[in-house]
Amino acid sequence: MDYTLQIFLNDRWLDCAQIEHNGGLCQWNYFVRHAVEYPDAPLSLAEPVDLEIRTSRTLPAFLYDLVPQGAGRRFLLGELKIPDGPTADFPLICAGAFNPVGRIRVAEAVDYFETHVARHPDARGLPGLTIDDIVVRSADFKETMFLHGMLGTGTTGVQGAAPKYLLTRDRADLLHGDAVLPDADAAQHLIAKLPRGNSTADDKVLRNEAAYMRVAAALGIRTHAQLPTLHGDVLLIPRFDRRVYDGKVVRFHQESVAAILGMPGFDQRPNLFEVVNGIRKVVSDPFAETLEFIKRDVLNLALRNTDNHARNTAVQQVDGQVRLTPLFDFAPMYLDPELIPRALRWYRPDTRVELTDWAEVLAALPVPVHERATLAVELGRFAGQIERLPDVMQAQGVDHDIIEFLVPFIDTQMRQLKALQSPSGHHAA
Ligand SMILES: Nc1ncnc2c1ncn2[C@@H]1O[C@H](COP(=O)(O)OP(=O)(O)O)[C@@H](O)[C@H]1O
Ligand SMILES: [Mg+2]
Repeated sequence: MDYTLQIFLNDRWLDCAQIEHNGGLCQWNYFVRHAVEYPDAPLSLAEPVDLEIRTSRTLPAFLYDLVPQGAGRRFLLGELKIPDGPTADFPLICAGAFNPVGRIRVAEAVDYFETHVARHPDARGLPGLTIDDIVVRSADFKETMFLHGMLGTGTTGVQGAAPKYLLTRDRADLLHGDAVLPDADAAQHLIAKLPRGNSTADDKVLRNEAAYMRVAAALGIRTHAQLPTLHGDVLLIPRFDRRVYDGKVVRFHQESVAAILGMPGFDQRPNLFEVVNGIRKVVSDPFAETLEFIKRDVLNLALRNTDNHARNTAVQQVDGQVRLTPLFDFAPMYLDPELIPRALRWYRPDTRVELTDWAEVLAALPVPVHERATLAVELGRFAGQIERLPDVMQAQGVDHDIIEFLVPFIDTQMRQLKALQSPSGHHAA
């Protein structure tokens, strides 16, 4: 059977492409009409609009950004009565991708959602919730979650391991499941993120995520203008893939680094040099985004945000410009009880040896000479900000024991970056 991928353009959902997945073979193509009318609106920046029929053994990489994960995945597997595994990905998309982050969705998943809502007539027009309802998990919250199930609140449409809900604030300041509130009533779009597990370490990671984001903002990293806020054990994260404008909702193109690199599945570990290359190919200002990406990685190392996998970095297109999205999922992941090692690393492209000094990374970076020099200058300047990190962290409310633990990691980053300030590079005294 053919499924239809839709894209949100000019205030409405349009049929964009058709896809079939049968006997281990996947075929998809853009509709001729889309190719003629919207040649500049691809489903993925790695898949330019054309009339070709693409055939492969896996789903196209960008579709893995839509595969339900975590709690939404488990819920939907139960509903569909299918076992988990890679072959579940396509059925999960076809049922669960009715309202994902970004601006593409699957038409048949919308039908699936409508059928779900029809089975629960009370699910429409439920009263909105306050943030307190959610924090104390009130009876209203539980009923709403049951009726919207994992569906209306969009748990199937947002990835990651932590339980989360897509919520929309109406103009009376009440919260609704994102998929059930009409665009015309929407004032603000949010992700409500709960701790990954039940341990105190899980709580601590989430509690410090808001403070970590403020630290990044204070250091000039690109963050969303509205920063996350913590309410009890619920982190409310304003979404940057939507904009409410003139009583309408604009949905921005967004896709992960895994998608732009054309990497299907969830287990791929691209070399960070490959990641930089991939980002540079699609963004409007390669120099600015390379610098931004490296600064984020300096912070990942200094603040031990080890969970830097290829779906925790994404690009977006806003007002015609392609760039890295504002920072997300930035937290003291070294505390996670699952012991998450740093996922992606800088392996020298020729020798495959890991590089752990910025001077060596810069030397191996595939950029024009003048860019390399300017990167060194900018990162040398960044050293001053890294040096002040402990104070900034304190001011932004990071837990004291985290700051203390991180001092040597911050120090290493600061010294490496300072060494870039001298023209001879990292061997300066
Ligand atoms: N503020 C945001 N706006 C839009 N999309 C977001 C935002 N924050 C996260 N996302 C998307 O939601 C996904 C899950 O969020 P994330 O914080 O990574 O959760 P987890 O900690 O469970 O991995 C991300 O991979 C990204 O695609
Ligand atoms: Mg994540």
